[in-house]
Amino acid sequence: MNDRFSLELRLPEDYFASTLRADVLAGLSAPPRTLPPKWFYDDRGSKLFEQITDLPEYYPTRAEQEILARRAPEIAAAGRAATLIELGSGSSRKTRLLLDALTAAGTLRRYTPLDVSVSALAEAGEAICRDYPELRVTATVTDFEHDLALTDEPGPRLFVFLGSTIGNLDQAQRALFFGMLRHALSADDVLLLGADLVKDPAVLVAAYDDSQGVTAAFDKNVLSVLNRELGADFDPDAFDHRAVWNADESRVEMHLVARSPQRVGIPAVGLSVDFAAGEALRTEISVKFRRESLTAELDAAGFTVRHWWTDPGARFALLMAVPSR
Ligand code: SAH
Ligand code: TRP
Repeated sequence: MNDRFSLELRLPEDYFASTLRADVLAGLSAPPRTLPPKWFYDDRGSKLFEQITDLPEYYPTRAEQEILARRAPEIAAAGRAATLIELGSGSSRKTRLLLDALTAAGTLRRYTPLDVSVSALAEAGEAICRDYPELRVTATVTDFEHDLALTDEPGPRLFVFLGSTIGNLDQAQRALFFGMLRHALSADDVLLLGADLVKDPAVLVAAYDDSQGVTAAFDKNVLSVLNRELGADFDPDAFDHRAVWNADESRVEMHLVARSPQRVGIPAVGLSVDFAAGEALRTEISVKFRRESLTAELDAAGFTVRHWWTDPGARFALLMAVPSR
């Protein structure tokens, strides 16, 4: 390994043993049954997500990439960041546009990707270290909802949160998250946030239910995670993947629907869950945003939105915000 690359484990020792158990107990004990999204991203889940980003139906990655390609020099000039901190960095593919611009601007010294996926961080971090010979890469395995794992990064810092992962949190979770983030930012730090926008429901649903079935495989992978980590006996083939547009909540919901009545044992939490035929387990929400309400949410958390950029088709937004005075 390279001496410019480090991978630090900041998840609590008992993350799987206690956090996953608590989530499963809270989400599966009674209907409507739900699971939080972070458990999708084991090694296989992270690889499947990368495949999703290449699907013809999954426009968000390409739309965000278009905005980044166009605005990266402006972003680099505005923040003059010495450190780029990325939440939920995954493969860090799009981030390279920012790393290129910040390297060209001559300010960047450090890249700090944060993710729950060890394999994604190890792979992306080492590749970036190789391709950016002046950069120090300090990757950290953490849950960004609980611990931003910040240490002694040189400022100013550019915090980036791409891929509309913010939409995987509901309104209450977003309020907590934005509050924690605001607390972490210093006066000269900048936030860059990618958010998917409300549009034709048919386009939205297709993005989460592709014709090749990659999203279905990704969705069902969470059941394999529960089987492996908690000794559960889910049969992934006994569930259908379904994506629905919930207009009242302005979000796409991913459901796994039981094809027949079935009982699933989850020994590690002492649960035995009965699914009726057609009963849904909600595995994910992906909120779609409007400019006014997202700006208001950020404002309430102490951020001022300085820029709101969209792709030419106005499908996706990238916003730049700074701490309010
Ligand atoms: N930023 C990339 C990946 C988005 S997918 C892109 O735009 O394509 C969401 C990423 O966030 C995954 O890599 C997942 O492992 C990570 N993630 C999800 N919930 C998380 C959490 N609570 N804490 C840290 N990382 C999380
Ligand atoms: N942040 C991504 C999004 O909301 C995550 C995602 C894409 C996802 N496709 C998915 C989550 C399918 C669950 C199922 O767009």
